[in-house]
Amino acid sequence: MELDLSGIDIKISDDINTWEEVNLLYNAALKQIRTKIEILNEEFQEVHRYNPIEHIKSRLKAPESIVKKLRRNGYESTIENMVRYVNDIAGIRIICSFTSDIYRIAEMISSQKDIRVLIVKDYIMNPKDSGYRSYHMIVSLPVYLSDRIVNVKVEIQIRTVAMDFWASLEHKIQYKFEGKAPTHINSELHECAMMVANLDARMLSLNEEILSIEAER
Ligand code: GTP
Ligand code: MG
Repeated sequence: MELDLSGIDIKISDDINTWEEVNLLYNAALKQIRTKIEILNEEFQEVHRYNPIEHIKSRLKAPESIVKKLRRNGYESTIENMVRYVNDIAGIRIICSFTSDIYRIAEMISSQKDIRVLIVKDYIMNPKDSGYRSYHMIVSLPVYLSDRIVNVKVEIQIRTVAMDFWASLEHKIQYKFEGKAPTHINSELHECAMMVANLDARMLSLNEEILSIEAER
């Protein structure tokens, strides 16, 4: 279930009236946030001589999926309900090398003046029962049209390459079994998730060791 943000004092996209406007605004929000993240990555590269981001993927949720999600949560398919209750119409996924990069990137994004962080879900500190690990943020940012400014929500998922590898396969499997995979597959997946977490931890400490040797030289 997406959280209901309607009680929060920010006026989110109150004046979006048509599907074309939804498309325009969420697409604009995706472009803006993507550019912001690319700039932060380039700046980081300049200062620290190192690239925290491996790559970025973004997508607009398909209209069928939006309608399906609304229906699943008991809402009528209206533009108003989409904008209010579906937090992942615009989604961006940032893939990085090390777990420490995730928090660095999240911090850089959060401190941008025009970005408001609405919800944070840290599935790295608190992995899901499936074993899923990632850092999620729902943010809003202003999109400037010719006659008005509209705040638009974007879901940001930040994860390591290893976490992404696991999540892709797990998603494929759950899709194939329509969420009811055999127990042994689920427990195997869970075990792989633990191995991924372990791998991430070891790669991080290896990297830190390399960095400290470089610093001594
Ligand atoms: P959705 O209704 O699915 O959007 O979930 P939610 O509102 O509870 O939010 P949550 O932050 O838990 O999940 C948002 C997104 O994270 C999902 O749409 C997936 O892309 C991803 N995700 C969450 N849990 C899992 C998981 O167990 N496995 C995989 N592969 N992806 C997950
Ligand atoms: Mg989703």
